[in-house]
Amino acid sequence: MSSVDPTITPFEAFGGHAFFDRLVAAFYGRVETDPVLRPMYPGSELAPARERLRLFLEQYWGGPTTYSNERGHPRLRMRHAHFPIDRAASERWLAHMRASLDEQALPEELDTLLRDYFEAAAPAMINTDG
Ligand code: HEM
Repeated sequence: MSSVDPTITPFEAFGGHAFFDRLVAAFYGRVETDPVLRPMYPGSELAPARERLRLFLEQYWGGPTTYSNERGHPRLRMRHAHFPIDRAASERWLAHMRASLDEQALPEELDTLLRDYFEAAAPAMINTDG
């Protein structure tokens, strides 16, 4: 049986706010100790960045549109232009996201949906040869 229910949004199927909160908490816990990625985040606090990623993902998957209400159109490539993201940085980002997804142990179809999205999105942010 398919775990993707067409009568609810992917946001709800993943587990709503609580799911995305767990995912980004696991992810930023890894960024916190990453010697390449951590210095790229402005300021001493990761909490605001964590909040922005959560709101963006919730909106992307059909949840509340708080991200755009607060930040405008996502334009993610443009928003990342200030940070030199080479292949190595992108792969580290993706490795942390994969490990964070592993911990969530989603049903396979839902897991694949999210994993495929991140596999495509992370390389799309590369903006320098390094
Ligand atoms: C490929 C490696 C990536 C690196 C090194 C990276 C790094 C960063 C950094 C340094 C920021 C600024 C933190 C802040 O908001 O204060 C940021 C913001 C953000 N990133 Fe990434 N990122 C990457 C990929 C991605 C991907 C794949 C997504 C989405 C699937 C994403 C979503 C976001 C969002 C939503 C913001 C906040 C944008 C805003 O509203 O200003 N990032 N990222």
